[in-house]
Amino acid sequence: MQSFATLNTGQRIPLLGLGVYDMHGEKAVHAIRYALDIGYRLIDTAQAYENEEEVGKALRQSGVPREDVFVTTKIANIVAGRADVLASFEESLRKIDTEYVDMLLLHWPVKDRRRENWKAIEEIGRSGRARGIGVGNYLLPFLQEMPEYATVTPALDQIEYSPYLVMHQELEHCQNQDILLQAYTPLIRGQRFCDPKLLAMANTYGKTPAQIILRWCIQQGISTIPKSVEPSRILENFSIFDFSISDADMATLTGFDEGLRIIEDPMEMW
Ligand SMILES: NC(=O)c1ccc[n+]([C@@H]2O[C@H](COP(=O)([O-])OP(=O)(O)OC[C@H]3O[C@@H](n4cnc5c(N)ncnc54)[C@H](OP(=O)(O)O)[C@@H]3O)[C@@H](O)[C@H]2O)c1
Repeated sequence: MQSFATLNTGQRIPLLGLGVYDMHGEKAVHAIRYALDIGYRLIDTAQAYENEEEVGKALRQSGVPREDVFVTTKIANIVAGRADVLASFEESLRKIDTEYVDMLLLHWPVKDRRRENWKAIEEIGRSGRARGIGVGNYLLPFLQEMPEYATVTPALDQIEYSPYLVMHQELEHCQNQDILLQAYTPLIRGQRFCDPKLLAMANTYGKTPAQIILRWCIQQGISTIPKSVEPSRILENFSIFDFSISDADMATLTGFDEGLRIIEDPMEMW
């Protein structure tokens, strides 16, 4: 069981995927392979995570057909200008051992680079070797600026998002522009798992805090990519398709918002 969205490119994307930040070597290969074995079909890596090779290895070992897995990677912040974007993308394909990625993102809206780097990934998108292109950490001002230089609307915007950091403006803008919002750091790296409000909600549904948060995301049509390297948690995070949260409790969870940010504020790039 999985929930899907259709991107503005026509691609079908699973709403729940595996984030692979900060996992390396055989432990990463094992975790990703386990995720594929139990049904994950979206893997979120990045040049900066230095584990694209592990993603490729897990894909090969899993035996799941390449076309059944939605693979995202991201152009690193240090990459500057058309030639370097194209070269770094070639390197990503080589490391993942694939002829294409399903989604290529600019990892951050780096000042003085985002225009030229976006033009370069538009070119990659036209080549078909990135089936979709999108952005990461584009808060509203960055999205509103894009029509000045972009000829393609991003298919996806990956931003920090959780019940404790509800980005209302970005969600509304993405919904209006047919851009899929994808929530990163959805579990707040565990920092609110002991919140009594969240524990009470988990108790009501007989689920864990992580499952409540992830269900809250996908039930709004938001994609999300929790990271775990532990098989038991990878399974726990995927076991969210057998219940639903009432409208009243969805609103209560949204009311947990406290502007809690784990990763640096992208507006520092403005
Ligand atoms: N675009 C960007 O700039 C950006 C920035 C940050 C993250 N991301 C993406 O988003 C993904 C997720 O974000 P994140 O890794 O920062 O944080 P996260 O998914 O909110 O939290 C991951 C942490 O929570 C633990 N965890 C996972 N499932 C758990 C569970 N069910 N119960 C208890 N603990 C659990 C993990 O530990 P164990 O591994 O030990 O289970 C890990 O320490 C990343 O992997 C990456 O793909 C993108």
